[in-house]
Amino acid sequence: MAATVAQSSNSVDRRYHDTTSPYVLPNDDVEQDRLNAQAAAIVEMIGGRPFLAPIQSMVRISKAVDVGCGTGIATLQMADLFASATVYGLDLSPAPEPVQKTAPSNIVWATGNVLDVDEGSQAGEPDSVGAIFAPSSLDYVFGRMLFLGVIEHQDLDWAFYRAGTSQRLDGGWEWHRKVVSAAHRPGLSTRAGSDAAALMRAEGLEIISVQTFEFSFVPSHKTPNSISMGRYVQEKLVPQYPELLKKMLGAEGISGPVLERLTKEALRDISCEEGVHQKYTVTIGRKP
Ligand SMILES: C[S@@+](CC[C@H](N)C(=O)[O-])C[C@H]1O[C@@H](n2cnc3c(N)ncnc32)[C@H](O)[C@@H]1O
Repeated sequence: MAATVAQSSNSVDRRYHDTTSPYVLPNDDVEQDRLNAQAAAIVEMIGGRPFLAPIQSMVRISKAVDVGCGTGIATLQMADLFASATVYGLDLSPAPEPVQKTAPSNIVWATGNVLDVDEGSQAGEPDSVGAIFAPSSLDYVFGRMLFLGVIEHQDLDWAFYRAGTSQRLDGGWEWHRKVVSAAHRPGLSTRAGSDAAALMRAEGLEIISVQTFEFSFVPSHKTPNSISMGRYVQEKLVPQYPELLKKMLGAEGISGPVLERLTKEALRDISCEEGVHQKYTVTIGRKP
């Protein structure tokens, strides 16, 4: 892991400020120069690191994108942090040629509008906006100073409900309590869906809509739109649960027979009845 993430938040990483550093890109275009100066000032303003997400806990990042990458300065920093990941630098206009030529090989530069997320993936274009944002494929999305008009955020809460209701089923599930506390320890949210509107409002955005959907773990005819989701969960996600639990509960110091028991209980609980689901929230906000 790069030294930057191990630093305390009030120590500034000089790599992002030193004009001789490879992170400050040589070019004589006035705008690119301005963007790089702005990027360094922002990094300093927010405490010395370009990314404040709990990257220490994001050890398995394999695909990340810098939306509206401009000169690519943050893209290079991301590629350094996530050296084994593919990092996309996406912008309406191409990144400067000298940057593209000297960038590390784990960066893919893409030109396009982030709002065109439906484009290109069907045509098999690997660096199209649609392919970059293919469902569930991104581990980390970063965007800075885009002045985008609209933000759409979609995510799950880590709680389980009865079909067609907001009745919680997980009250007595020991494994679930422990997974939630494992997520909270490094600062991850288990309410990433339902907290989004409040977070956007706190940033001064106006909320256009909040819609909640049932992300079924077992298909139910009560929620016909989620029948495919329930099938996907049973076929693809449930088989991954033992590994997921091993990692999450392992971080809580749980292993051996206790891990085995909790895994068995989890597999029973997540498929306990038709329509058992998590809530998936789509929040759309815009600049007022
Ligand atoms: C102020 S610059 C910031 C560049 C970079 N994020 C940084 O912090 O150095 C904004 C960049 O966002 C890009 N941008 C704005 N809207 C975009 C969109 N819809 N899709 C892709 N890029 C966009 C612009 O082309 C511009 O390069």
